[in-house]
Amino acid sequence: MTRILLKDQISRLKDQFGSDIAVVSNLDSLDELFRKYIGRNGLLRDLTSTIKDLSAEEKRTCGTELNQLKDFLTSKLEEAKMTLKRKLEGGEKIDYTYPFSAQTGREHPLYSTFEEIITIMERLGFEIVEGPEIEKEEYNFDFLNIPKEHPSHDIWNTFYVSEGKVLRSHTSPVQVRTMLSKKPPIKIVAPGKVYRPDTVDAGHLPVFHQLEGLYVDENVTLPHLKGTLEVLAMQLFGEVETKFRASFFPFTEPSLEMDVSCVICKKKGCPTCRYSGWIEILGAGMVNQKVFKNVGYPENKYSGFAFGLGIERITMIKYQIQDIRYLIENNFRFLKHFI
Ligand code: DAH
Repeated sequence: MTRILLKDQISRLKDQFGSDIAVVSNLDSLDELFRKYIGRNGLLRDLTSTIKDLSAEEKRTCGTELNQLKDFLTSKLEEAKMTLKRKLEGGEKIDYTYPFSAQTGREHPLYSTFEEIITIMERLGFEIVEGPEIEKEEYNFDFLNIPKEHPSHDIWNTFYVSEGKVLRSHTSPVQVRTMLSKKPPIKIVAPGKVYRPDTVDAGHLPVFHQLEGLYVDENVTLPHLKGTLEVLAMQLFGEVETKFRASFFPFTEPSLEMDVSCVICKKKGCPTCRYSGWIEILGAGMVNQKVFKNVGYPENKYSGFAFGLGIERITMIKYQIQDIRYLIENNFRFLKHFI
C-alpha cells in the first residue's frame, strides 16, 4: 500500500458511503452503517491495517488522512441520525395557537405629514413637480435674486459639491426650473430633501424636507396667497388662527411669514410657542419681478405667489415632538406612537 493508493481507496470508500447513506430510512439500518464503516471490524479499520508496513513518515501522513476520514464518516452518520430522529418524531412541530406578535410597519410620521400636505395642495389644484438634490449653484442662488456678494446669501449655508454645483439648500430652485421650462399659468408644489451644514441639535439636522409652492399667472394677488395658506393651515391643524408678518426673502416682494396660533396651549403660552401663543410655520411672498426677469418672462405681465415650508417643523408641531432627532432615530418605542 502506498499513499497514492490509499488516497484512491479513501475516495472510493467515501463514494460507497455516500450511496449507502442516501438510502437509509430507519435507525436500524443506520446502526448497520455505523458498524459497516466505523465499527470494530469495519471498512475504516481494514484500511487502517493496510498502513502498518509503511515507513514512519508515510504512516504519519496516511494516519492523518484516515483520521480525517473517520471524522467525516462520524459526523455524517450523526447528522443522518438527528435528521431521522426528527422525522420519526413527526417533524418540526408548529404550534398554531402560539400568540402572534409580529410588528407591522407603517408610514413614518414625517412622510404622513408630507402626504397630508401634498393631498391638500392637490385638492387646491397644485401639480407636484420634483427637482434634483444636486443643483446648479445659479438656480439655488442667482436666479432667485440671491447674488454671492449679498449678505442674505449667508442665510442659506450650503454644501458645495463641485464647481457650480451644490446640494440644494432649499426647494426654491425648483421654482426656477419650472419657470424656465414653461410659461404661466403655473401652479405647482415641489416636495423634497434639502441640505445645510448645520450643527445637529434639537431643532436642526443637516438634511431636512421642504415643500415649495408656486402659483404664477396674470393677476395673482396677495389675497390669493393668504387664502391658500389659510386653507392649508386649517386643514392641517384644525381650527387655528393665522397671522401674517412682514419679512424678507430676496425672491419675493413683498415677503411675509405665517404664524398659526399655538396648537398646544391655544395661545395661553407654553414652551413650544416660547410663551408667545404663536408658532411660525412658513415663509412666503409675491414673486419678485426680478426673478421673472431672470427666467425670461416679459416685464410686468405676470404676477405670482410663492411659499416654502419645513416638513420636520410642521410634523413636530402637529405631533408635539420636542426634538427633531427623534424623527431620524428609528426608535421603535417612539415610532409606535404613530401606529
Ligand atoms: N426658501 C426659503 C428657505 O428655505 C423658504 C421660502 C420663503 C420659500 C419664501 C419661498 C418663499 O418660496 O416665497 O428659507
